[in-house]
Amino acid sequence: MIGELSPIEKAKFVAAKRAADLVEDGMRVGLGTGSTAAWLVRCLGEKVRDQGLRFRGVPTSTRTAELAREVGIEVTSLDEARWLDLTIDGADEFDGEQNLIKGGGGALLQEKIVATASDQMVVIADVGKEVEALGAFPLPVEVIPFGWQTTQALIEEMLVSMDVLGRKSSLRMNSSAPFVTDEGNHILDLHLGRIGNPRQMALALNQVPGIVENGLFIDICDIVVVGYGDGRVELRDINEGTVEHDRLDLEENENLFSDIAD
Ligand code: 5RP
Repeated sequence: MIGELSPIEKAKFVAAKRAADLVEDGMRVGLGTGSTAAWLVRCLGEKVRDQGLRFRGVPTSTRTAELAREVGIEVTSLDEARWLDLTIDGADEFDGEQNLIKGGGGALLQEKIVATASDQMVVIADVGKEVEALGAFPLPVEVIPFGWQTTQALIEEMLVSMDVLGRKSSLRMNSSAPFVTDEGNHILDLHLGRIGNPRQMALALNQVPGIVENGLFIDICDIVVVGYGDGRVELRDINEGTVEHDRLDLEENENLFSDIAD
């Protein structure tokens, strides 16, 4: 099954599999959202089943909660867990300072709350997510439905004074209706091209009335686990200033998850 995956999916899988080894017995672990995070949840489910790993997971979306329960992970809420040892999540982009754009899957609000309430945030990503400057990926911003068009106009006005290449934004759709987040909000995707000062942008966005949260994760991520399509994996720890190299034997994992469709 693993052998049939595209190089990008293999890269996501190896990053997730390496990061799953960071979870230890007794931990409270934030579980991210998206296709890379889904690999992580499956890898952790396998460890629960085959190695008797015992930990509690705090999912960042209803989708992740469903998958976690399905694979046998004990699920709890953030209110119950209060503080987490570790959060592992995907990202849409990461730069050299390990700042991120997240929210491509529409779960940025819960993801940011959960990551911020963790001793460590680990990002798992295929190498294609690495960028010199954030912003080619449209920046997701969660807005409340009330007056969202006014919020959009305020954002576009605010962007005039920012170091960006583009200022257009679009309401995220789900078929013909606006996309609705787990918290009942909408998402505006900002087509900025390049964000000159992500820290300033993150602060300025959260001053606009109607914005609940933005998808810039600044100084939140501690470790990025970067996966490559040939099985190589790099663990970059920004606090320690270390890079650890590893390689996963994809043939050895060939039959893993052969029972699942995607
Ligand atoms: C969801 C996210 C995801 O982590 C991000 O979109 C990456 O997704 P994928 O792993 O599918 O590429 O932020 O809100």
